[in-house]
Formats: sequence, structure tokens, C-alpha cells
Amino acid sequence: MKTLFLTLVIVGFLFSCTNASEEDLIDTTPIEDIVTYADDVKSIIDNNCIFCHSNPPENGAPMPLLTYYQVKDAVENRGLISRISSEDLAFVMPFGGPRLPQNLIDTVIKWQTDGLLEE
Ligand code: HEC
Repeated sequence: MKTLFLTLVIVGFLFSCTNASEEDLIDTTPIEDIVTYADDVKSIIDNNCIFCHSNPPENGAPMPLLTYYQVKDAVENRGLISRISSEDLAFVMPFGGPRLPQNLIDTVIKWQTDGLLEE
């Protein structure tokens, strides 16, 4: 009887593992709050971009990303989101990679969806 129980536990365990779908493995919890520049986006840009996108810009970067209007303009007119989302190391920002963690990319995408609010 004990052996049967143990077998069932093991089989159940294996089954639950092989059954895991991609959805179980990826955190699809939506970011609930409205994303704003001041609360969420500025720190991402400050930590990853202004090393080059300073004023004046360094290392060949074409524009600064220091203010709300500069970052908003880069999303609207300079393809900022496609640059940070790219898998292509010759195209992705930060320049030369690595790509930002996905949750940070998702935060910037949600900033656009939420209307590119300042605060
Ligand atoms: C190591 C320096 C460096 C860092 C760090 C960096 N960039 Fe850049 N960025 C560049 C250079 C150089 C270019 C111009 C060459 C090109 O477009 O690939 C550029 C171009 C861009 C462009 C395109 C501008 C246009 O008008 O075509 C965007 C948008 C951009 N960067 C956003 C970002 C963002 C957002 C970050 C941070 C996540 C970032 N960059 C981090 C160096 C950098």
C-alpha cells in the first residue's frame, strides 16, 4: 500500500512537471499602476542610457536623454522602444548590449500605452 501511494506521488509529481506550459513559466502578471516618467522611466534611463546620452552626448550618441521632453521625443520620433526591444546587438540600446531586463523594457512600453505621462 505504501509503495502504491509513493508511486502515485512520484507519477503525480512528474506529470505536474511535464505539464507546465509556457504560460506557467513566464510571469504574465500585468504591471498594475500607471507608468509615469518621474516614478518609473527616469530611473531606467538614468541607470542605462545617460552615460552616453548626456548633454552634450558622449561616445557618438546623437541626443541627450536627460529630461522628460527629450525622452518623450525619443519615443515618438527616434524609435526608442524598438531600439531597447531589439534582439539585434548591432541595433539594440544600450549601445552594444546587453538588452535591458524584460521588465524594464515592458515598463517603457507601458509608459507609451499609458500616454507618456510626466508624473
Ligand atoms: C555606450 C553609449 C550608449 C548607451 C549607454 C546608450 N546609447 Fe543610445 N545611442 C548611442 C549611439 C552611439 C547612437 C547612434 C548610433 C545608432 O543609432 O546606433 C545611439 C542612438 C540611439 C537612438 C536612436 C537615435 C536616432 O535618432 O536615431 C536611441 C532612440 C537611443 N540611442 C536610445 C538609447 C536608450 C533608451 C538607451 C538606454 C537604454 C541608450 N540609448 C543607451 C550610444 C549609446
